[in-house]
This record gives sequence, C-alpha cells and structure tokens, in this order.
Amino acid sequence: MGRSGAFGGSVVLWALLAAHVAMAFEPVSVGIAIGAVSLTGYLSYSDWYCRFTECCREDRPLNASALKLDLEEKLFGQHLATEVILKALTGFRNNKNPKKPLTLSLHGWAGTGKNFVSQIVAENLYPKGLKSNFVHLFVSTLHFPHEQKTKLYQDQLQKWIRGNVSACASSVFIFDEMDKLHPGIIDAIKPFLDYYEQVDGISYRKAIFIFLSNAGGDLITKTTLDFWRAGRKREEIQLKDLEPVLSVGVFNNKHSGLWHSGLIDKNLIDYFIPFLPLEYRHVKMCVRAEMRARGAAVDEDIVTRVADEMTFFPKDEKIFSDKGCKTVQSRLDFH
Ligand SMILES: Nc1ncnc2c1ncn2[C@@H]1O[C@H](COP(=O)(O)OP(=O)(O)OP(=O)(O)O)[C@@H](O)[C@H]1O
Ligand SMILES: *[C@@H]1O[C@H](CO)[C@@H](O)[C@H](O)[C@H]1NC(C)=O
Ligand SMILES: *[C@@H]1O[C@H](CO)[C@@H](O)[C@H](O)[C@H]1NC(C)=O
Ligand SMILES: [Mg+2]
Repeated sequence: MGRSGAFGGSVVLWALLAAHVAMAFEPVSVGIAIGAVSLTGYLSYSDWYCRFTECCREDRPLNASALKLDLEEKLFGQHLATEVILKALTGFRNNKNPKKPLTLSLHGWAGTGKNFVSQIVAENLYPKGLKSNFVHLFVSTLHFPHEQKTKLYQDQLQKWIRGNVSACASSVFIFDEMDKLHPGIIDAIKPFLDYYEQVDGISYRKAIFIFLSNAGGDLITKTTLDFWRAGRKREEIQLKDLEPVLSVGVFNNKHSGLWHSGLIDKNLIDYFIPFLPLEYRHVKMCVRAEMRARGAAVDEDIVTRVADEMTFFPKDEKIFSDKGCKTVQSRLDFH
C-alpha cells in the first residue's frame, strides 16, 4: 500500500474506496464511513484505508515516548531491559537504511518478563500486538517439537519467513524457548539475519527478530546476588557487568540453542538483554498490577498473602522468586 497523495474526490478513487470497504464491512458502516470521509474531505487514501484494515506501514515512526511509558509503568525491576530495548528499537526504527535486521536476544530466569516485554514491543509496533498479521511467534516445543524433523522445519521456516517479509518488510519474529530449539533450525534463519542487501530478491533489513531463552539466567542471577550481598543497589547493575558474562556464558551452554549456531561468533545478535530475577517487592507489584487489570481495588492484605505464598531462593536469604511473577495470576484466583 503506497502512501498516495491527498484524497481529492476523484471518481476513480471513490469507486476504489467503496470497493475496498464493501468487501469488509456491511452497508451501514460503509455509508457512515463514506459520509465521514466526505466531511473531512482530504484524508490520504492510505491513512483512511489503514483505519479499517491492518497495514504494514514500515515508514510509520515508532512513538518512543509511548514505548518508554509502557515499559516504565508495566515492567517491574528490569531497568537494564527497559533501557536497552528502548534504545535498540528507537535507533533501529529511526534508521532509514538499516544494514541488517534488528536481532534482540532476551535472557533470564523464569517469569521475569521476557514474553511480557515481547508483547509490549509488538503492541508498540503494531496496535494488534501478537495478533497482528505482521508479528509471528514461534514456540520451539510447540512448532518444532521433533528433532528428527529438523530438515522439514528448516524448509518450512525459511519459506514462512520469506513469505512474511515479502508481504511486510518490517515483520516481527519472536522465537520463544530458544534453549529448546535445535541448532539446525537456527542455522536456517541465519542467512536472514546477516548483512546482506538482499536474499533472493528480498531485503530482510527492516525485520525484527526477538529470541527468548532462560540461557544465562543462572549467571545473571549470580551477578544480581553478588550485588545484593555487597549491599549494592540492584539499579547499580550496569550492562557492562553482565553483557560479556552473558554472551560467553550462553555460548558455552550446550542447551542455549544459540550454541554452535554461529549467531554469536558471527556477531549477528545486536543486543543481549538480561532479565534480573525478581524480588519479593516486585512480586507484590505484579499482584497489584494484576488486581488493577481485573478491575478490583488493590487489597494490601491479599497482596501480602499472595506474595508470601511464592517460594524464594537462595535457601538462606530467600531473596529472589523461584518463578518470578509467573504464577501470580493463578494464585490470585484463590483469594
Ligand atoms: N518484570 C515484570 N514486570 C511486570 N510483570 C511481570 C514481570 N515479569 C513477569 N511478569 C508477569 O508474569 C507473567 C509471566 O511472565 P513472562 O511470561 O513474561 O515470563 P518469562 O520471562 O517469559 O518466563 P519463562 O522463561 O518461564 O518463559 C507476565 O505475563 C506478567 O504478567
Ligand atoms: C506518543 O505517545 C504519547 C504517550 O502515549 C502520546 O501522548 C502522544 O500523542 C503520541 N504521539 C504521537 C505522535 O502519536
Ligand atoms: C506468514 O505467517 C502466517 C502466520 O502468522 C502464516 O499463516 C502465513 O502462511 C505466512 N505467510 C506466508 C506468505 O508465508
Ligand atoms: Mg516465556
């Protein structure tokens, strides 16, 4: 869909508009919609059209302040992830000619917000979020469960990505449970992540790839624990305290999925993004957020009770939640 010029009222355009809408809507809303347009008069065709159907709109700038607000309000205890994701996405979307697709690798303990963040990112790029036609989520254990079928999965996945990117250059691909993904499958997507101008006539440079895994979670936890034991604030942890540990740690971990896939030694991952283990106070914040999301008033007694039911580690100090905020929602159902 090109961004054609101002809508002037030419007969041809009118017919085109009506035809497009008639396919998707019943006559009454067509009437209302056409009425509304004739009132406003000169909305551009694509603006108007994209109000009713989802458009790819790769030229649409990312609203960085909206993304910032979303992350700061909704994501708890992840100052590093917030900072890096914001920087990575705004930089990438403001770049008219990226040299390669954006690749983010999110790492961390269970229930610390990796899927949650991918959802926030998806929603900021496309209003329909994970349900958008331009956002594709792959879950290793769901979509690629059998190791002996790797060859088949490779072909399918390549065909899929090629088709999706030719339909929308700024497609988003999220690979969940990377640590359970067979390295052969990552090899299949490697060509798309590289610095090629085009692969078989298609440019992948505007696409976004997000990888999620627990790999490196133990190292991130160790560093966070070291800070805590040294009496230093969690917010003092800087990316440089974690980034080297993370990529080496992930690389050396056979179960990381990234292992031996060549993604790391070829520097195809743009950002390693650590998710810190969540503390008791963050779990409480998750409970409050969940209560508000359910439209209930926040009851501090229940907040404390739910948080107290969670289990914490290490054994002696009990600082970090075993499952992060993951079981908060189901626990809340019991109260
Ligand atoms: N840091 C956080 N801030 C706010 N809510 C969070 C956070 N972490 C987790 N949650 C809540 O807990 C739920 C589960 O988290 P999520 O699915 O993102 O975990 P995950 O990091 O993907 O874990 P896993 O590695 O086990 O898949 C989210 O839907 C969200 O409601
Ligand atoms: C960007 O988001 C902010 C916060 O949600 C909003 O106030 C603002 O109007 C948005 N800007 C644009 C250009 O859409
Ligand atoms: C793109 O992805 C969707 C799933 O989100 C899939 O159903 C579809 O077949 C893909 N398109 C092409 C052309 O491969
Ligand atoms: Mg997850």
